[in-house]
Amino acid sequence: MTAAENLDPMRFRNALGKFATGVTVVTAKDLEGGYVGTTASSFNSVSLDPALVLWSIDNNARSLPAYEKGEHFVVNMLAADQVSVSNHFARQQEDKFDGMDYELNAEGIPVLPGCAATFECKLYATYEGGDHTIIVGEVIRFDTSNRKTLLFHQGAYCVSEYHPAAENRVAIPANEKQMSFAENYLPYLLARGFYQVMDKIQDMLNRQGMAELEYRVLASLLGLKNRTRKDLQHYSVLDDESFEHELDRLSNEGLVNVEGDQVSLTETGKEHIEPLLLIAKANEADALGQFNVEEALLFKRYLRMMLEWTA
Ligand SMILES: Cc1cc2nc3c(=O)[nH]c(=O)nc-3n(C[C@H](O)[C@H](O)[C@H](O)COP(=O)(O)O)c2cc1C
Repeated sequence: MTAAENLDPMRFRNALGKFATGVTVVTAKDLEGGYVGTTASSFNSVSLDPALVLWSIDNNARSLPAYEKGEHFVVNMLAADQVSVSNHFARQQEDKFDGMDYELNAEGIPVLPGCAATFECKLYATYEGGDHTIIVGEVIRFDTSNRKTLLFHQGAYCVSEYHPAAENRVAIPANEKQMSFAENYLPYLLARGFYQVMDKIQDMLNRQGMAELEYRVLASLLGLKNRTRKDLQHYSVLDDESFEHELDRLSNEGLVNVEGDQVSLTETGKEHIEPLLLIAKANEADALGQFNVEEALLFKRYLRMMLEWTA
């Protein structure tokens, strides 16, 4: 049994995909006087002196002979807005340059416009690498721009963002730098945000004559046929005693139906809570006030992610 037979190919690919890379389109002249271009994420730096880079190409790629036999190639490192260029050069087709924008460098190799960086290379060496061929190039010219680089991670295109640990690389506004510990401390921000938003909800509930506990339980059942007690308690964010007490009360008032483990809204319960939904949504929009739609969605998504990993 070879080592490869021990590896589940799908799991192996997925594990490799955990390594985030950039995306390049490598270009060269083909042997008939046309051009080839291959989307490749296997690009990497090798040596500073001499200036060497490498990438690897599938032995079944139609363009392989052009790279192996040609003397020069160009690595076009794609920018974040060049996903369509990446997809274009990843598809096998007769002439990938038909209708594409490009310029020829001194060696007559296509250089794509709008890239994050380009490395013009002279073929330095090729090595056998299993079902791929490793191509090493000596960089004879290069160019960079301040465009963001397109990334590829776990099978999907991504854009980069600085990690919070890279604080010195992120432009932190002066007023944030001067904040006291508590002012910029996550638990404080979450707690303060909760109280301020809930205050507004409380005002709304007071005007509607509904108690907060009742609102939490009924609102957690909205839009659902039923929910288990455990789930309902979780979404109502109530301790055992308050939850059981509230559930009994709502059931006695005919607002919810409790059947074994399942709880649902009665028609009366729906009529009771539904009008509040619009006001609750308006309150939420108010709290998210200064965000645009995308920022508001992201803000809530980040909160949900944090809830997941702190559960
Ligand atoms: C994001 C991405 C990264 C890729 N990386 C590589 C690579 O590093 N090496 C490779 O041989 N193919 C890679 N491919 C697949 C090739 O781009 C594709 O098979 C090739 O362009 C087919 O064209 P050809 O046979 O005409 O050369 C990648 C594709 C995508 C979408």
